[in-house]
Amino acid sequence: METNVVKVKLWGMTVGYLAWDKKADIATFEYEPSFLKKGLDIAPIIMSVYSPRSQNHISWLGDKDKPYQGLPPAIADSLPDKWGNSLFKAWLRDNNIPSGKTTPIDHLSFIGSRAMGALEFEPAQKLGNASSFSVDVQRLYEFSKQVLSEQASTVLNRENAILWQDLIRISSSPGGKRPKAIVAINKNTGEVISGQGMIPEGYEHFILKYDDNSTYPYAKLEYVYYEMALAAGITMMPSELRAYGNITHFLTRRFDRKGNERIHTQTLAAMSPASDSYEDIFSVIRRLKLPYEDSRQQFLRMVFNIVSRNVDDHSKNFTFCMSPEGVWRLSPAYDLTYSIDLSAPAYANRHSLTVNGKNESITREDLKTIALNNDIQNYNTLIDEVLASAEQFDRLTATVDMDKSLVGKIYASFNFF
Ligand SMILES: Nc1ncnc2c1ncn2[C@@H]1O[C@H](COP(=O)(O)OP(=O)(O)O)[C@@H](O)[C@H]1O
Ligand SMILES: [Mg+2]
Repeated sequence: METNVVKVKLWGMTVGYLAWDKKADIATFEYEPSFLKKGLDIAPIIMSVYSPRSQNHISWLGDKDKPYQGLPPAIADSLPDKWGNSLFKAWLRDNNIPSGKTTPIDHLSFIGSRAMGALEFEPAQKLGNASSFSVDVQRLYEFSKQVLSEQASTVLNRENAILWQDLIRISSSPGGKRPKAIVAINKNTGEVISGQGMIPEGYEHFILKYDDNSTYPYAKLEYVYYEMALAAGITMMPSELRAYGNITHFLTRRFDRKGNERIHTQTLAAMSPASDSYEDIFSVIRRLKLPYEDSRQQFLRMVFNIVSRNVDDHSKNFTFCMSPEGVWRLSPAYDLTYSIDLSAPAYANRHSLTVNGKNESITREDLKTIALNNDIQNYNTLIDEVLASAEQFDRLTATVDMDKSLVGKIYASFNFF
């Protein structure tokens, strides 16, 4: 597998060309001249189509920092994280391709048109028939557990070949560390099909986040946090719990799909790579001139994460969406859940993004500072709304049947300031 150049596409247009410089071990990217005239600023802060570099057809260089793998951050965003990477590695082994011989450009070609967001990559690796197929969630879930737990060499026997192809096609593109699948669900019948490519009328795009059926209720907790976030006034995509076999998984509608239309997305990590604080999100909101509602939303989300101890607030858990007209907005919130490891020492449970320079022991005063610096109106009311939603935790967990002692420990760790 040696793909030296890929074409980056968006909504059928060629955005530009990405090449791998073997000697420097880095990618170079150049916009297609005709795309520069469309006014679609896909990476407005770090790789703007209006910048002299783009306009003068000078190549952009990739970023050597680990998360970007030598790609421009705007494009690295189309690659998966831990879970998707482990599937790609297993796929390489299955195809007898030494992973040391592949570049991130090969990985983009493998992802092809399956990336989250709207960017697509050509040439794409052919992975069998691209049309939608019916998904047996329970079997695929069992199989992905096997892929995760077994040594790669034992996983991919031929009996599993079809399941393996299905898994690759619907699970290898989304980011994040937890196993998940990209599916479409029929609103009326509940039938699940692959969510790649065009989906038929009556279906909706979802991300299915697998529960791991351990004693820790990942899916139920994420669902309770979803309900709590809604109560706090946070915008999220409609989400639900669904049981397949006797295991309950978390499903969330995709904000990067509207029917068969693709919405271009950039995580904070792609939009503004140096970001390591909530203040940095507000500064992106200002740079993009987003409406006040997005600042207010972001303030609520920050307070929510601090009160309800979602310390997994890293820069890939915040996203911006661009409409086909080129208009940017903050995306709905996602991946909100309790992320404290109760058995770990306090230093292991610090927030990824800082608030007023702190990543632990954050106080109401710190929130006030952020509110004042970012013109958040009625911030005390917003903080109180979030606190009131967190008080509902116990009641909400009762609706999903969760271990009482765990519920007690989680609630006791909340930040009620
Ligand atoms: N509702 C959604 N619509 C579109 N993309 C989403 C949605 N939820 C999450 N994502 C994308 O998928 C990635 C993984 O999802 P996430 O919920 O963060 O999983 P994990 O718990 O494994 O981190 C996110 O980083 C984000 O880019
Ligand atoms: Mg995540």
